[in-house]
Amino acid sequence: MAQLIPVDTFDLIIFGGTGDLAMRKLLPALYHRDRDGQVTADSRIIAASRGAMARDDYLSAVEEALRSNLRDGEFDDSHWQSFSQRIHYVQADAFEHGEWHELVEALSGYEEHVRVAYCATAPSLFGAIAGGLKTNGLITDNSRIVLEKPLGRDYESACEINNAVGECFSENQVYRIDHYLGKETVQNLLALRFANSLFEPLWRRGHIDHVQITVAEDLGVGGRVEFYDRVGALRDMVQNHILQLVCLFAMEPPSSLHHDAVRDEKIKVLRALRPLSADDVRASSVRGQYTAGAISGSTVPGYIDERGGDSSTTETFVALKLEIENWRWSNVPFYLRTGKRLTGKHSEIVVQFQDVPHSIFPEQKYNVSPNLLRIRLQPDEGVQLSVMAKEPGPGGFDLRPVSLDLSFAETFGVGYPDAYERLLMEVLRGNPALFMRRDEVEAAWSWIDGIIEGWETSNQKVESYVAGSWGPPASSLLLDRDDRAWYSDDRI
Ligand code: BG6
Repeated sequence: MAQLIPVDTFDLIIFGGTGDLAMRKLLPALYHRDRDGQVTADSRIIAASRGAMARDDYLSAVEEALRSNLRDGEFDDSHWQSFSQRIHYVQADAFEHGEWHELVEALSGYEEHVRVAYCATAPSLFGAIAGGLKTNGLITDNSRIVLEKPLGRDYESACEINNAVGECFSENQVYRIDHYLGKETVQNLLALRFANSLFEPLWRRGHIDHVQITVAEDLGVGGRVEFYDRVGALRDMVQNHILQLVCLFAMEPPSSLHHDAVRDEKIKVLRALRPLSADDVRASSVRGQYTAGAISGSTVPGYIDERGGDSSTTETFVALKLEIENWRWSNVPFYLRTGKRLTGKHSEIVVQFQDVPHSIFPEQKYNVSPNLLRIRLQPDEGVQLSVMAKEPGPGGFDLRPVSLDLSFAETFGVGYPDAYERLLMEVLRGNPALFMRRDEVEAAWSWIDGIIEGWETSNQKVESYVAGSWGPPASSLLLDRDDRAWYSDDRI
């Protein structure tokens, strides 16, 4: 069990304190860390939001959120009594800097605390919040600001936000969050690659045929219809979570775990992504949108129905083929796909190794499947390696793939903390390794912008897919054209 070291005494200001992220993720994460003794007695959580609200009303809303978002049996009345003492509420409109009296008062006299401003709001408010903190003299040497994704909606808007925040905070005070980097299994990718010598010689062209990354969700857009319709799957999932997975998978070994050593390697991957021209985009990408269907036996509405019938060309599914132009990965395609309302919640990286160069089993020619390494990110986190083996028996020589299967839950026997728990503690400790540096976010946008532009100029169609499927048929064709197929649960 990893050691739990308390973090320095802090004041965490959550802008967007009444919002979905605060209620569903941040406050439950803080409750857990507090319960486990990582939060010192004097640390405080200050929720800030536009409307006026009495502290007791805010506490009731938090209690309700904890009761519904914590796992069964985790809410404890006596712990809630002590946790709630830490929580305060202030009214602060991001654009009305002259009206931030309540926040100024709440922070006055606490300058020695680590001070973290968490922007759990729309990105269009990030610059204004940073400006308000500066104008009101609330930025101390011990201050940090956390920016939620998506950071902007393209390269230009991301640069504007970074500039605005950069006028108030130095780069080492800015924590750009991508919660996938806080997931245990994503960090395990570093352990798998760099704490084992086994894979490194094979982790390259010449040995790997191709890589598939799937991040599938069975949920739809739920209560976020309006937000989601402005964003879509490419900006919501690919620009950040999936490109970060590509980086960790494909980067050169960093010289240490120092934050800049890792980020220096990740950015090289982003800069080596082959830019896609409008023609490439048509050939290498698929956009989809779900229609009504059934998931686990229950019928679910289509995306347009969830929008109350309003038409939309926002993609809820995207599949892409990308290439990394460097010595290690030249000509090794990476196929990525993500979508809402797919068959189930299922995220994994599948590495298909090359075929054996010559088969000594002529009569088994078609039975020798390539080795596969599957890194299961969620659920049922683990690593599985499929190898060919001889079927036991006296006659003939029958081969079949069998799996060496490591389940983290069985091996370590512990549940995983939510990614936000780790990330919040890292911000409070002042360790930016699991956060994105400015140049990373901008490099990711600059590649994504090419796809958005390609979609716009060619008017690329959004293909329908039935909820509960693996996405539109064009997604299978993307691989079929290269004589490949997606590995989904039913293969292996
Ligand atoms: C968020 C996206 O960043 O990640 C959501 O905005 C998505 O649309 C979520 O559902 C997926 O996260 P996880 O941890 O459930 O895989």
